[in-house]
Amino acid sequence: MASPANVNDTGSAGEVASGSASAPAAPGPDAPAVTEKHPGDWQRQAKRNLWMHFTRMGSYAHADVPVIVRGDGCYVYDEHGKRYLDGLSALYCVNIGHGRSELGEAAARQAKELGFYTNWSYAHPRSIELATRIAELAPGNLNRVFFTSGGSESVESAWKLAKAYHGAKGEPRRHKIISRYLAYHGTSMGALTATGLPSLREPFEPLTPGGRHVENTNSYRWKEDRDPLWAADAIEEAILFEGPATVAAVILEPVQNGGGCFVPQDGYFQRVREICDRYGVLLISDEVICSWGRIGHMFGCERFGYQPDMITTAKGITSAYAALGAVIAGDHIAEPFLQGKAIFNHGFTFGGHPMACAVALANIDVIEREDLCAHVLENEGELRATLESLRDLPIVGDVRGAGYFQAIELVKDKETKETFDAHESEELLRGYLSGELYKRGLICRTDDRGDPIVQLSPPLIAGREQFAEIESILRPVLAEASQRMGQWSSLSRA
Ligand SMILES: Cc1ncc(COP(=O)(O)O)c(C=O)c1O
Repeated sequence: MASPANVNDTGSAGEVASGSASAPAAPGPDAPAVTEKHPGDWQRQAKRNLWMHFTRMGSYAHADVPVIVRGDGCYVYDEHGKRYLDGLSALYCVNIGHGRSELGEAAARQAKELGFYTNWSYAHPRSIELATRIAELAPGNLNRVFFTSGGSESVESAWKLAKAYHGAKGEPRRHKIISRYLAYHGTSMGALTATGLPSLREPFEPLTPGGRHVENTNSYRWKEDRDPLWAADAIEEAILFEGPATVAAVILEPVQNGGGCFVPQDGYFQRVREICDRYGVLLISDEVICSWGRIGHMFGCERFGYQPDMITTAKGITSAYAALGAVIAGDHIAEPFLQGKAIFNHGFTFGGHPMACAVALANIDVIEREDLCAHVLENEGELRATLESLRDLPIVGDVRGAGYFQAIELVKDKETKETFDAHESEELLRGYLSGELYKRGLICRTDDRGDPIVQLSPPLIAGREQFAEIESILRPVLAEASQRMGQWSSLSRA
């Protein structure tokens, strides 16, 4: 996903790469000395041996691979010593910020004590302690924790658990999952079925049977008189169409990432909860991004006041200092598997790896000790105001999100909300924006899988200084983007 320009989701770094193939910026006065060996070798070796994810690797033939070598707080440094504000927390991951050696120390202590043992039929102290800690923090009866190694595995596991649960309750026909257009739930075949992005799905079809997609909560272009709970009701229509006896679960993010930080309408999740209860369908809250403080609460569902049957999480659970994910299930979900010979026949060797669990415990210590949820709630208004202040630019159509998870939607025409066509969007994002923001030292996400957006998701320790820096880079770059897209001239003609 990373490109020399910035992080985008289209797998199309190439044009950006060639568009921005400039000499690396000279290290600034604040740049640390680069003591690592032979940066040139990393370029050669990366191009020869590393298979980058979601990346048009051909684009690096004549451009540098961005090699990030060090992190400190809200900042990361490339191999040339150039500093970047990590406005994306390394893909919504590094919630407590970079360079927290205490997480490494926790891992080192664990390596000395017990480097690895599995959770298949056995347990080990750190998985037990972490499961208990999570159960104490999670809302309601979410007391049973099934560990995985990441987000896709969590989503995959939650769907399988939903099917297994219904099977154990005597409803084996319930196998379908309902999710939303443009939502990203991961890339393994089951998770990909829930993912609502045609470009990611189509090359790998046929997917797991049983996926169904409904409207998301992006009301930016909704007609004004539309019932605000229309998108929630679309879930009921889908359940009725599919046949309630065949639907296992609905999976939704508290704030939907794909498409650009779609927030729910007031009462959306309460209506969805009612619908799920009416038809015996489980509600999975996919909080791979929205937990561990990202939107100001340990769990995103707490912000919007709903109780899911399961939460899927990953990323910020360790602030990504180690690979870990989890399905946090309600007692009622676990109950059928606690009797006699019943079994949830599913697992991963590394799910709940002791090193990762030790890191997660240390990470949660930091989140609690520094009260990062409160910090986000206190400062989200200022982050939002920073982005709102850009609304005077013709290209800024909408600003939306919650907590430290915000997006700006870029439009061709502010009045009509007309969006850019595919060619314009390519030119705008990959031909200019992405590369320019990176060149000026801001890592964020540009994405046009829905309508084009710029997305910010800084580490939870960020504050006024970082917001000012974000503004100081975004403003001139978006102004120039407006100019390039001919917006100033058309505006002045009007
Ligand atoms: C909501 C959501 N679910 C699932 C995933 C998949 O997680 P992973 O990349 O760790 O497999 C992601 C990744 O960004 C996500 O945002």
